[in-house]
Amino acid sequence: MLVDVKNLSIYYFTLSGIVRAVENVSFHIDKGEWVTFVGESGSGKSTVAYGIINLVPSPGKITGGKVLFQGNDLTKLSPEELKNIRGKEISMVFQDPMTSLDPLRKVGDQIVEVMVEHGVDEKEALKRAKDLLKSVNIPEDRISYYPHQLSGGQRQRIIISMAMAFHPKLLIADEPTTALDVIVQDSIMDLIDKLKEEGTSIFFITHDISLAVERSDRIGIMYAGKLVEIGFVDQIIENPLHPYTQALFASTPDLWVDKKISAIPGFPPDLRAPPPGCRFHPRCSVFKNKEELKGVCDVEEPKMIEVENGHFVACHLYR
Ligand SMILES: Nc1ncnc2c1ncn2[C@@H]1O[C@H](COP(=O)(O)OP(=O)(O)OP(=O)(O)O)[C@@H](O)[C@H]1O
Ligand code: SF4
Ligand SMILES: [Mg+2]
Repeated sequence: MLVDVKNLSIYYFTLSGIVRAVENVSFHIDKGEWVTFVGESGSGKSTVAYGIINLVPSPGKITGGKVLFQGNDLTKLSPEELKNIRGKEISMVFQDPMTSLDPLRKVGDQIVEVMVEHGVDEKEALKRAKDLLKSVNIPEDRISYYPHQLSGGQRQRIIISMAMAFHPKLLIADEPTTALDVIVQDSIMDLIDKLKEEGTSIFFITHDISLAVERSDRIGIMYAGKLVEIGFVDQIIENPLHPYTQALFASTPDLWVDKKISAIPGFPPDLRAPPPGCRFHPRCSVFKNKEELKGVCDVEEPKMIEVENGHFVACHLYR
């Protein structure tokens, strides 16, 4: 096991209240495994990603739990120790590659700088930087370009190539292809796949379930700050257990061929005051229609249980 997240909770302490963005989330990522989290906007996916690398932006704080990376609790490390791990052992790619690049400096200088920081001498770094660009199909003369002179897809490929240079043990990719067209999207996904083949574990975030299904080993579903279901791709696709997962699939035409497509009624809750019990109960059609769940789902928080080998769900239907 490479990463073991145990009961991770992350709150944002805002002027208008405490946002319980991630609560009691537990899951693991094995060596060389690709795990994807899906869920609606605001469900806490990015916050989990920031939590794993202990980089939750202010006013956010990890309020509970552990993130064991090769047995070390990252939530307990000093900023110096974390800096050593990030970039070298854990790489990150975000939705907007501009956030990872300095707009005022040439991309080549930035790649070289990262390599030099990791102990490569400058001449060798320049040669490797050119090779890296070639390896992601970017002409080597682009090395003297500024980030704004490149396309979004090129910028994203450069970030991923930089991540690849150090053969990280873990790549965290938060919606890295969302802003890109489908062809460029495929090329980015292929690069991440290549990294995986070289032994890197992938923690991928998307709201596009079809994308998750294609490449992942396991999929986790987040709803309103909670991980509600996780399992192997086949288990999740063939036998979605949680009513939210089922509703999510029923609103995804690609996955629900020949079945009725329907949007999920209602809205995700305000995480400053999430509903008691199961956070999904105000929108859950099963709860609405089953008399015996009244006073259960709206009162008691469902615990994660393993229903079949490796397939976990947090829902009172499976108690
Ligand atoms: N800096 C912040 N300050 C206050 N609240 C925040 C902050 N960042 C995120 N949140 C809140 O935390 C919750 C989870 O947000 P997060 O960005 O992790 O969701 P997400 O699943 O990544 O959404 P998206 O799909 O839109 O990227 C949301 O309710 C959001 O409003
Ligand atoms: S715990 Fe109850 S309300 Fe929540 S998803 Fe399951 S059935 Fe619906
Ligand atoms: Mg996000």
